[in-house]
Amino acid sequence: MERRTLLLCGLLALTGCGSAAPTRRPGVGSARAGDRIAGLADVPTGSGALVDLPGDGQLLLVRSADGVRAFNPACPHQGTVVDPPAAGVITCPTHRSAFDPQTGAVLSGPSPKGLAEVPVRVSGEDVLLA
Ligand code: FES
Repeated sequence: MERRTLLLCGLLALTGCGSAAPTRRPGVGSARAGDRIAGLADVPTGSGALVDLPGDGQLLLVRSADGVRAFNPACPHQGTVVDPPAAGVITCPTHRSAFDPQTGAVLSGPSPKGLAEVPVRVSGEDVLLA
């Protein structure tokens, strides 16, 4: 083995490059209908949580007295992953667009449209992709 190849292999081993950890993408990714995406206990009532889906996707789940809704957390302005609701508003940390946690609609800021809703359903204590 050449010295250059040996050094590269050693560097990859030290940095963890080439590991199998999936890269998360906002949205459903490779998850399929019926996949369990969270437990109800993982989604605080009156707030929400970013959840990693089976595969490589990521969704924002929002829980209210009416149930659980899911949104693609990619801000429609420039794609930043938005923060879970706080004080009744979903906020994008980059340019501060604000979204309604019940509908995903834009409340203020530069986003040209609201967050895209993703259908989910609750089954017992689980939240499933619909
Ligand atoms: S990326 Fe979200 S408001 Fe600009």
